Amino acid sequence: METAEIRRRWLSFFESKGHTVVPSAPLVHDDPNLLFVNAGMVPFKPYFLGQQSAPWDRATSVQKCVRTLDIEEVGKTTRHGTFFQMNGNFSFGDYFKEGAISYAWELVTGSQQEGFLGFDPESVWVTVLDGDDEAADLWHRVAGLPHERIQRRGLADNYWHMGVPGPGGPCSEIYIDRGPEHGPDGGPVVDEDRFLEIWNLVFMQEDLSEVRTKVDFDVAGELPRKNIDTGMGLERVAYLLQGVDNLYEIDEVYPVIERAEDLSGRTYGADAEDDVRFRVVADHVRSGLMLMGDGVTPGNEGRGYVLRRLLRRAVRSMRLLGVQDAALPELLPVSKDVMKSSYPELERDWPRISESAYGEEDAFRRTLASGTTILDTAVQRARQAGSSTLGGAEAFQLHDTYGFPIDLTLEMASEQGLSVDEDGFRTLMKEQRERAKADAKAKKHGHAGSTAYRDVADRIGRATEFTGYAEMAGDSQVLALLSGGVETDRLALTPQDAEHGAEVELVLGSTPFYAEAGGQLADHGTIRLANGALVQVTDVQRPIPGLIVHRGRLLEGELAVGETATASIDTLRRASVSRAHTATHLVHKVLRETLGDTATQAGSENAPGRLRFDFKAGRGLSADELVAVEARINERLMDDLEVSAAEMPLAQAREMGAMALFGERYPDVVRVVSVGGPWSLELCGGTHVLNSAQLSLVKLMGESSIGSGVRRVEALVGADAYSHLARENVIVNQLTDTLKVRPDELPDRIGQLMARLKDAEREIAKAKSQQALAGAAGLVEQARDVAGVRYLGHDLGDGAGADDLRTLVTDLRGRLGNDGPVVVALTGTSGGRPVVVVATNEPARERGVKAGDLVKVAAQTLGGGGGGKPDLAQGGGQDPTRTGDALRVIEDALRA
Ligand code: ALA
Repeated sequence: METAEIRRRWLSFFESKGHTVVPSAPLVHDDPNLLFVNAGMVPFKPYFLGQQSAPWDRATSVQKCVRTLDIEEVGKTTRHGTFFQMNGNFSFGDYFKEGAISYAWELVTGSQQEGFLGFDPESVWVTVLDGDDEAADLWHRVAGLPHERIQRRGLADNYWHMGVPGPGGPCSEIYIDRGPEHGPDGGPVVDEDRFLEIWNLVFMQEDLSEVRTKVDFDVAGELPRKNIDTGMGLERVAYLLQGVDNLYEIDEVYPVIERAEDLSGRTYGADAEDDVRFRVVADHVRSGLMLMGDGVTPGNEGRGYVLRRLLRRAVRSMRLLGVQDAALPELLPVSKDVMKSSYPELERDWPRISESAYGEEDAFRRTLASGTTILDTAVQRARQAGSSTLGGAEAFQLHDTYGFPIDLTLEMASEQGLSVDEDGFRTLMKEQRERAKADAKAKKHGHAGSTAYRDVADRIGRATEFTGYAEMAGDSQVLALLSGGVETDRLALTPQDAEHGAEVELVLGSTPFYAEAGGQLADHGTIRLANGALVQVTDVQRPIPGLIVHRGRLLEGELAVGETATASIDTLRRASVSRAHTATHLVHKVLRETLGDTATQAGSENAPGRLRFDFKAGRGLSADELVAVEARINERLMDDLEVSAAEMPLAQAREMGAMALFGERYPDVVRVVSVGGPWSLELCGGTHVLNSAQLSLVKLMGESSIGSGVRRVEALVGADAYSHLARENVIVNQLTDTLKVRPDELPDRIGQLMARLKDAEREIAKAKSQQALAGAAGLVEQARDVAGVRYLGHDLGDGAGADDLRTLVTDLRGRLGNDGPVVVALTGTSGGRPVVVVATNEPARERGVKAGDLVKVAAQTLGGGGGGKPDLAQGGGQDPTRTGDALRVIEDALRA
């Protein structure tokens, strides 16, 4: 029996049992957890999870699926196909175990002459979940299966859930005994090759509150409405019914193998290794075709990469079969021709699919041509050196220069009996990524790459001394200059620099400038050389440990290495940033007091006058808590707490209970910043005020979630906090002036005004609709004869909602009488959305004119849907400019 025929029988069987046939969803589905659809129930997930209510009680489908987890197994076993089709029947709170079992039995064992699948009842075995006596009894009672062919298994085999909280339940699997030549007796618990699973029935009866693994989950209780989800492997049934040995030999796959035989001159079945290659080719060509059919294009990431791998593996396998010419132009059309009867869109989209596939093969052939020689040489060298491992550096070069993905190198090396130093390869990859990142960053800022900094640091041979905890200015020597990322001895202004100055990076022996770190933004300021040159500093970074680099613009004079320089920071900015940093410590401490010690810092930014603090917490703060946190912080400010810093061994700091960032690596000697003695102790390299009172005021600007388990508070500090409050005060004053009430009366007053506004809007809407109705009586005049029906179509325009239309449409139908057929259609627009209502009288209905049918075509025109009874129906849509067209299509429908 052809695969397409099994498919047809499946769908028509379940259709005859009241199931709605739902077309296969595309392989690419909007489920963030899935690369591709991998089971028949995926498109129905929202119904099973209760996120949406199912539009039907029963449904059936044949769903395209792709699973590539076992890609290496393809062709080696007979059970792994990357593309397959899953037949499913689904019940949403309708029939349950008994229904599912009796349908399955009827379809599997009913005779082929009568349209069923015709498996010998004696060859059927089933499994049920250990403890699911109900299912076991049903198999015995409904199907008459003897007890010895009903086997019981544990959760690992016979429980199914979606891997997330929601419905789950025991399942029952149906197996076909392929006969003693395929393995030992004893049922599926003994041998899953001889006894081949064809169909899994899942009885979703439990609500899972937590799912940790396949077998480890918590059951919250029974589901109020129980569901059925089943999956039958279409390919497996096909290979059983077609009397072939495995899924690569069925009618939808084998023709590709035959074509590959022609091309290679080799025979399938003659050599075990070649057979694996033939099967890989057949499987991958089909999967690639189906993925491209659903819009996937070859690429280096995610779905595109899976497709690329499939196509490349197919091409490589052809090479190993001795075919050097382009293979896909020969193979892909064969696959398309056998698949298109089930998926006609493959023919329609063929130009796009074939172009994409052939382009990929061309590119890959070029890669192979250059890389294979390199690989062969590397393999030879490894062998000569008596090694059985290909070095990470070679694998990296193949990747970097020839675009050989690592898995291809692994495969090709293993064909030659060599392993690959994968760790070495990954280390090199990581280094390259970091270099690329640093370079990209440098490019964006016009800075040097990390190599240039490394050279400078090596030459200087010691860390830049930071003097900025105590000093705001200091003298030192220029040790290095970088311009455009390149080291230089001197830098002078050119005429082009006249307006903006020249960008420069500058390294001093010591500096008061704080380099951005620990969330604290960099100092700004100036560097003046003894020779008069002036640099305006706008950024300070530590691109490699120990090296502080000032970035800015040379505004006057000429820079030279070796000159003496005076570095002075912008003290107002520094003071403001320091206030923010101390405030951050206070926020951190008070949040921990409020939420407990689990509220740990996840990131922060201390900028002039403002701070951002991210922390890990299981829950957010209530509005009341936020007010309390703010009050507590401001109280602590007034407590005049001393802020001090001390260096000490890490162990001692920890002993004192200093807060350290989890996962952060600290040096042996650390700096501990304390606010109010032991009250707040943090490991911190930042700059701070001397006393909490210097902060004056901290104003929290709200708290929110910025990702799973991470929350953010933002706050204004000092003068910025004051200006913010002052601005709000001005707004309140303006409002009290306008509304003529006291500040504390504002909320009530505004509430009243809003309520009055709403009432007024309602009044206007009512007046509009009355106006629309008032003009309506005169509409009767507009009724015209359309194909023997008195037809009245009219657009009431804006303001006429569905209720008005229904009232009016029945009124007009009444006025037009019952002497002959009458159809009234009205459209209107309410809240920007078009509505259509149609009414018919009895003589019209006797002629077969149905309001529901007319509304359907009209609503389609409006970009929506609708329906109803033959006498009165209503619909709506999106596009209010098309009401005229909607009325016209109704008229056309009457003429048709
Ligand atoms: N959803 C079930 C499966 O994939 C039927 O096996």
